[in-house]
Amino acid sequence: MQTLAAVSLAGGQGKTTTCYFLAKMLAKAGKKVLAIDCDPQANLTFFLNHEVASNQPTLLEVIKGTVSTVDGIYPTSEDNLFLIPADSGLAKVSEYLSGSGTGALILQIRLQAIQELFDYVIIDVQPTRSQICLTAVGAADWVLIPAESATKGVNSLLDTQKFLDEQAKVMAFRGQILGIVPFRDRWVGRTQTLESKDNIAAMKEFANHAPVLPTIRESEKFKQATRQGQLLSELGVRDLEYPFEKIIELLEDCKELDSGVQDSKPGIKVAV
Ligand SMILES: Nc1ncnc2c1ncn2[C@@H]1O[C@H](COP(=O)(O)OP(=O)(O)O)[C@@H](O)[C@H]1O
Ligand SMILES: [Mg+2]
Repeated sequence: MQTLAAVSLAGGQGKTTTCYFLAKMLAKAGKKVLAIDCDPQANLTFFLNHEVASNQPTLLEVIKGTVSTVDGIYPTSEDNLFLIPADSGLAKVSEYLSGSGTGALILQIRLQAIQELFDYVIIDVQPTRSQICLTAVGAADWVLIPAESATKGVNSLLDTQKFLDEQAKVMAFRGQILGIVPFRDRWVGRTQTLESKDNIAAMKEFANHAPVLPTIRESEKFKQATRQGQLLSELGVRDLEYPFEKIIELLEDCKELDSGVQDSKPGIKVAV
């Protein structure tokens, strides 16, 4: 089981969108996938069309350990894709996590019980330095940092890198950054806007050895796909799926390298 979290310390950076498409595409490719909504805004739960009933456990109960992890997992309309949902009540978990002394490790511990059930765990992370964010990062083998192709995105990238560095120093993040994903890369016809170009160049400059992955193009099709519970390929715009295909390739490569060919995680190089 490989665990991937989408992390950025600002909203509107493409985290939920990235998690939605990756989870669905991996499941379509036959992988067993668990999506975890680690954001009380619960957008991933909404995108995957799950309604939380008042008496049903969510991530809150799974983290607190009042139910076993499997009891917080629900099927989705996609074969092979399962969800631990959230609702606004997830915010209450902070108290439990901060009181536990080892809050950053709790989600990782809860996932140990389901190691054998899934190939991939995809975690959508709350964009603040909250206890929920810390425990999600603590559970991640890999982190993707989506960042809007705008000044706000570059600033969010810098904040997020600093945060991950701090967590790594205290062993509360033991994974690696799989890459930075520029979000809402805007093109007019065949020409990339200057704003996108400059900001993506800035991301490359600040990437600090992490690969800057193929960009997510600005397009209304993404909203349409999430609203309709579909994939971009199902809307006839498969080329827009390219950044997610590339991430899936990377994850698969990492898995192969991990399972014995090499004994350390790879330094990944991606041609963009
Ligand atoms: N490729 C895209 N181009 C333009 N807007 C997009 C695209 N993908 C998603 N969006 C919209 O951008 C907003 C932010 O995306 P989201 O994934 O929710 O970010 P985050 O989870 O980081 O807050 C959402 O309203 C979403 O519908
Ligand atoms: Mg989100």
